[in-house]
Amino acid sequence: MKQLLKTLTETFGPSGYEDEVRKVIAKEIKSLADEIRVDALGNLIARIKPAKNVKNPKKIMLAAHMDEIGVIASHIDKNGFVRFTNVGGTFGRYTLGARVRFLNGVVGIVGYDRLENIDSILPINKMYIDVGATSKNDCPVKVGDFGAFERSFIEMGNRWVAKSMDDRSGVVVLIETMRAIKSSPHDLYFAFTTQEEVSLRGAKSAAYSIDPDIGIAVDVTATGDTPASIKMAVELGKGPCVKIKDSGMISDPRVIDWMIQTAEKGKIPYQREVLVGGTTDASVIQISRAGVMAGALSIPCRNVHSASEMIDVDDMKNSVKLLTGMLSKPISF
Ligand code: CO
Ligand code: ZN
Repeated sequence: MKQLLKTLTETFGPSGYEDEVRKVIAKEIKSLADEIRVDALGNLIARIKPAKNVKNPKKIMLAAHMDEIGVIASHIDKNGFVRFTNVGGTFGRYTLGARVRFLNGVVGIVGYDRLENIDSILPINKMYIDVGATSKNDCPVKVGDFGAFERSFIEMGNRWVAKSMDDRSGVVVLIETMRAIKSSPHDLYFAFTTQEEVSLRGAKSAAYSIDPDIGIAVDVTATGDTPASIKMAVELGKGPCVKIKDSGMISDPRVIDWMIQTAEKGKIPYQREVLVGGTTDASVIQISRAGVMAGALSIPCRNVHSASEMIDVDDMKNSVKLLTGMLSKPISF
């Protein structure tokens, strides 16, 4: 699991440019799925068919997004400095001093305009990327080039840190769940979605084509366990989170019960999650077509949308256990 997560988090895939990430996943799941397809938006959809002799199997869609937040070059000045804007939730406070890598391999460092107040947090339109150019002509980046944070994966005991744990940790949980499921009474669709960070665009079309009975997103969530953090009842290492509400969705109570009962029967630790800001692919799956029963399983993550997102590997392992338990048995509702 570690090597796969390292490879995936060190692969570049800002929204709309998920190709490299998709290649890694496709190779990994080739032998685990009965059918695999890629749609026009780049979603990778893998199906595991129900066990033979199952009557009226439920169609269940699992979703984890392949894309990560990033930057896009918007202007190159006469001295070769690159001005940029955000792709998704790229915040000033995490971008200052960062390194970014463009898809053509060029790496740059983020500098900033003179500060009036040294303690103020700059918006990213007061920042630039220095790629070592001296003029517009020798600048290896052009307007419209996409980039993302450059940062290697590190291990701190049980806590692993990398860029794009949001949502490559969720991607790995789905892959490991596919590996762990020996047989299911359900018709399972594992969707590795695109463009989540720019308003959940991939999941919309994936949900439309799959047309599931139940949808579950696997994504990261914030924690309330760091100094003077937001008041939130989620801690790193205390188990996967059963989402009850976030700013885009109220989870279906039947799905919440299903998750909690599976966790309790299997003695898997879990946390109840209410996220005040942010949402997941599940929010658009829920309102696809005539509506879908939806819920989400979240992996606690510190420093979400920074280049050093931290997760606890036990939370990932317990997420795989919980999903595998849920998907291997018939559902009572
Ligand atoms: Co995100
Ligand atoms: Zn995410």
